[in-house]
Amino acid sequence: MTDCNEPEAKLEALLDIINSSAHQAIAEYKKTGYGVPSTDATTFHPLDLTTDTLALKKAIRLLEGAYHQLSSILAPPQHTVMNFVFNYNWACTDVAFRARLADVLDQHPEGLTVDKLAEAVNLDKVKTARVLRALTLMGCFKEVERDVFANNRLSLILKSTNNTGYYARLHSQDVAKSAGVVYETMIDEEFSRSHEIDKAPRIFAFRKEGMKVNQYEMLEDDDKKRDAFHRAMLGQSDMLGASAVLHHYPWSDISSVVDVGSGIGAFSTPLAKMYPRLRITQHDLPKVMVLAQNAWERNAPEALLDGRVEFIPINFLEDTPVVGKDVYYLRHIIHNWPDTEATTILRNIRKAMGPNSRVLIRECYLQCGAPEPMLPNFGAGSHNAYQTDLTMWFTFNSKERTLEELQIIGAAAGLALTQVYDLVDTMLVELRIAQS
Ligand SMILES: C[S@@+](CC[C@H](N)C(=O)[O-])C[C@H]1O[C@@H](n2cnc3c(N)ncnc32)[C@H](O)[C@@H]1O
Repeated sequence: MTDCNEPEAKLEALLDIINSSAHQAIAEYKKTGYGVPSTDATTFHPLDLTTDTLALKKAIRLLEGAYHQLSSILAPPQHTVMNFVFNYNWACTDVAFRARLADVLDQHPEGLTVDKLAEAVNLDKVKTARVLRALTLMGCFKEVERDVFANNRLSLILKSTNNTGYYARLHSQDVAKSAGVVYETMIDEEFSRSHEIDKAPRIFAFRKEGMKVNQYEMLEDDDKKRDAFHRAMLGQSDMLGASAVLHHYPWSDISSVVDVGSGIGAFSTPLAKMYPRLRITQHDLPKVMVLAQNAWERNAPEALLDGRVEFIPINFLEDTPVVGKDVYYLRHIIHNWPDTEATTILRNIRKAMGPNSRVLIRECYLQCGAPEPMLPNFGAGSHNAYQTDLTMWFTFNSKERTLEELQIIGAAAGLALTQVYDLVDTMLVELRIAQS
């Protein structure tokens, strides 16, 4: 057996994890009958479009975690640390998405010269080439010959028809500006020790612009931003492989679901399609309910015709949701709020629950359980969860929680933990009324 305390044995054990997890990922692609994806692919692989990628994501969590750990041991430390900072991929992605470079290249599968591409989007050709070349290093876009660029499987994500670009833009714009003042907030007399929502770095960064404390109230006043935000939520869902929950929770035993803070239905539209027996309530702020109704009319009109979905505006910080339903589903809600507000939301739901009701909280997970000699939390394999935790801090002065932290706020609302599902990057936590 390998002694993971020996430095060289540790390296060998990490190499073994890289090898076996890469083979697991390859096997997942091959199971579809379409082989493995290639760097030159110009379409999505069928597995990219399926709703259950949990096994693939488990393999990638090990692969990325072990790879980064191995590289951080073997590379010179100054190289590794500068890699953290020397990383403008977010800025280049922002340009590519906003200028719609992938949309233009989609009309030219064989590739387009950067002169013509830059002209089509009214940008400087030399700068456009530099942006694209930086992204090709990461496997996004392809330089088919010098200064001729084409789309590939990764750059398709940046087409305006794909929601993930909206999620990327949320980060490359407002969150990036908030991240730029984090240290200032940590030494500011007023902000440094506060865990209140009105002392988030976002408020500090945008105070000259008169930023409202509650981001969602701000979105209520801005139709364009509200629309882009809810498309970003669809993108977040795709990024996290969130539809896996449709396959890994016993929905067949449930008859009614309340999607609390539903947005436009990123979770419950696919749920309604897969389980047409379910009765679904969409609860969100009034203007979001209007957007949600429009989105359901476009994406799942059959559910509306059958009357299986209802749209009820709510302020979950003040109101009780519809009473006596089987499931109260909270996806990426609790992590938006510091403990006081998060507990208030759960208390309001607790008032609506019947003896068989349950609350399902789905959010990013600060987890443990990686095999040795990996870091127990999977290291870089948990990148999404730990970065989302920082997004929550910078934006709301809130956080992703550990299981223990969720248990504590659940208990304060009279709820007890009954089940946990590891869905990679996120967890699904089931809570029921605590027995006194
Ligand atoms: C991060 S989004 C998550 C949306 C959706 N659950 C999903 O996973 O795509 C948070 C949602 O909470 C809603 N929200 C914020 N404050 C609210 C409030 N006081 N009452 C009801 N909904 C609220 C927002 O409008 C938004 O749709």
